[in-house]
Amino acid sequence: MTVQISIRPSDHTFGCEPDETVLQAAMRADLMIPYGCRNGACGTCKGRILDGSVDFGAHQPSTLTDDEKRRGIALFCVARPRSDLVIEVRIMLPRMLDERSKELLREFGRINGEGVRE
Ligand code: FES
Repeated sequence: MTVQISIRPSDHTFGCEPDETVLQAAMRADLMIPYGCRNGACGTCKGRILDGSVDFGAHQPSTLTDDEKRRGIALFCVARPRSDLVIEVRIMLPRMLDERSKELLREFGRINGEGVRE
């Protein structure tokens, strides 16, 4: 059964199929949640579950502690929804940007010393 995931504070909503992680579903909807390793090791995709429940998935115990799980923190690259979700993530950008937008983001990244993913 497809569940619905809503992101705060941006208010984007997208569907997640039973075999998908939150990150996979977001990417399929052309939405960008920050990520790195995609296997529960780096913590880049860490965010908060405001409502609903997840299977936290396989991850490094040091990357997501039991205490964090009790407080509703999850790694969205490996978390699979068990219900409709409302989540909070640090940053979200549309994956599909036009070339001018990518150019501006690259320039902005250089100014701030940060990388920009495409
Ligand atoms: S992307 Fe590395 S833990 Fe999720």
